[in-house]
Amino acid sequence: MSSNIDHLLTETRRFAPEPAFAADAVGTADLYARAAEDRLGFWGDQARELLHWHTPFTEVLDWSNPPFASWYGDGELNVAYNCLDRHVEAGDGDRVALLWEGENGDERRVTYAELTDEVKRVATVLEGLGIGAGDRVAIYLPMIPEAVASMLAVARIGAIHSVVFGGFSADSLRARIDDAGAKLVITADGGYRKGKVSALKPAVDQALADRNGSGVQESVEHVLVVRRGGNEVEWTEGRDLWWHEAVAAASADHEAQPFPSENPLFILYTSGTTGKPKGILHTSGGYLTQAAFTNRVVHDVHPETDVYWCTADIGWVTGHTYVTYGPLANGATQVLYEGTPDTPHPGRWWEIIQKYGVSIFYTAPTAIRSFMKIGRDVPGGFDLSSLRLLGSVGEPINPEAWMWYRGVIGHDSTPIIDTWWQTETGAIMISALPGVTETKPGSAQVPIPGISIDVVDDAGEPVGEGNGGLLVVTEPWPSMLRGIWGDPERYVETYWEKFAAQGYYFAGDGARLDDDGDVWLLGRVDDVMNVSGHRLSTAEIESALVAHEATAEAAVVGASDETTGQAVAAFVIIKQSYLKAHSPEGLAQTLRQWVGEQIGPIARPRDVYIVEELPKTRSGKIMRRLLRDVAEGREVGDTTTLADTAVMSVISAQVR
Ligand code: WTA
Repeated sequence: MSSNIDHLLTETRRFAPEPAFAADAVGTADLYARAAEDRLGFWGDQARELLHWHTPFTEVLDWSNPPFASWYGDGELNVAYNCLDRHVEAGDGDRVALLWEGENGDERRVTYAELTDEVKRVATVLEGLGIGAGDRVAIYLPMIPEAVASMLAVARIGAIHSVVFGGFSADSLRARIDDAGAKLVITADGGYRKGKVSALKPAVDQALADRNGSGVQESVEHVLVVRRGGNEVEWTEGRDLWWHEAVAAASADHEAQPFPSENPLFILYTSGTTGKPKGILHTSGGYLTQAAFTNRVVHDVHPETDVYWCTADIGWVTGHTYVTYGPLANGATQVLYEGTPDTPHPGRWWEIIQKYGVSIFYTAPTAIRSFMKIGRDVPGGFDLSSLRLLGSVGEPINPEAWMWYRGVIGHDSTPIIDTWWQTETGAIMISALPGVTETKPGSAQVPIPGISIDVVDDAGEPVGEGNGGLLVVTEPWPSMLRGIWGDPERYVETYWEKFAAQGYYFAGDGARLDDDGDVWLLGRVDDVMNVSGHRLSTAEIESALVAHEATAEAAVVGASDETTGQAVAAFVIIKQSYLKAHSPEGLAQTLRQWVGEQIGPIARPRDVYIVEELPKTRSGKIMRRLLRDVAEGREVGDTTTLADTAVMSVISAQVR
């Protein structure tokens, strides 16, 4: 790791903004000056300039009860009105909001007027089903226009959505439904993935089945089902409704009511250091302000002329902020694509960019690295000249991938923005401004205007330029999480306790400042892995593994992987009793499969090593550092604190 850091810090390539780009850029240098002069005044201006407030706010931030923040607390707004109606009222109803491309080649163009009409009808349906302000609605959908419409319809009536990634299993869905106490699930029969219909409705049926005796009171009253895949589905009369029937029959007369700025907007579950995912809670006014602001100044969105495409699924925070809320609040035109990048051919993404004339493209380093592997000939076969800005999110982008991205996709001229943020931060926190900042391959660089960050040591002291430490946010920000659903103590403990004396937010990432004061992100400092830009917890996968009848004990580590950044490596001890009755043949494969079924295919370990022992300290703590050495094929590090120092040579031998 340290040689890797040294390598990164000797990166000397620099790319200044092209004058033509800078001349027309939304984000300008004076934003930094304005924010530095009066930070809260700056955020007050942004909220007023970018959003419509039914009731204007008089106070920007109330931080009298930290870490519980209130932004624009006495203001009132309607999030969906801001993303839809006001654009129609301003005469932009005919502008295309969504350029939808199904994986199977289906196409739909949805204008702002059409999307507004649809969302109003869905809002009417939801109210008819008894959903009101504060109620929770789970959304489990493929990337189709109805996914965006569902989120906005829930927001429109002041309810709270919890989007669950369509790749998660029935068990993961059930856990999220139960934790939030969702009254409604919006799903589809299925969606297209890798060339065929992948069913979704059965997972919902399974998640809601068999509650008798589980001790959990069923909260779900209805399931609203979009027809997309055309696959056969089972139907529970009285509970299930077809979207196309209910929405067509509903009135489009639906006036958006104002809600308080701090009205909850959504819960999004993310992996923490324990086995139980955390329901990260976001609210309305502050979240939408920073979503709209960053999408304007970082993605440089010019709504009248740009075609924007963020490839994230709405199941992740990037899909919330930079598919649904930011671009629609700004009135942008965007591509929405249902499927996988390589179906039916490896150039599908580049074909979509060519077809729609995409000008702003935002994706993850893992995707870029897998395209690098395939080679430049594939993108070389398409006209990518419409692209004028490229963005990256989700994990550190290594300088090689950065250079390839700029050279091969960005025809050696587009700026690249490497954006650091988290589910918890709600919106981009660290990034270059494309018309202002001279960029450096591999560094996320500088906090955006109005955001205060630092890199500190364990005691909270700034490490200063040229040194590494822990990334903190030193002042509250508009789109900050407001808590963990149902668990205020865990919120305080996880993010605010470590630097309570200073009042800093602890991000859980390691970082280093170079001699210019630019930030280089170094990955998580806790037991959270980052696989293809998705957060996974070692504890969650360990508990899935031990839930299998064969497993006595399991330890999971994130091992570095050329394409996915990190990969899941599991070390498993098998029960003697199981081995008496079963052959160990194929067991590693069975366990990989099992984890995929328990959590979802993204959590499936790359490697499962069957071992006889795990390295533990005298107090019984598993030393993951040593297992990582094994999984990455390195010589095993210092073993002196192990209870049994011989155990690592046994494990290494078994793995080999
Ligand atoms: C990592 C995704 C380096 C980081 C928006 C963070 C990054 C976690 C970057 C959040 C980046 C995200 N450079 N690391 N540009 N962006 N990360 O909640 O470790 O899915 O803590 O949010 O991803 O992941 P999450």
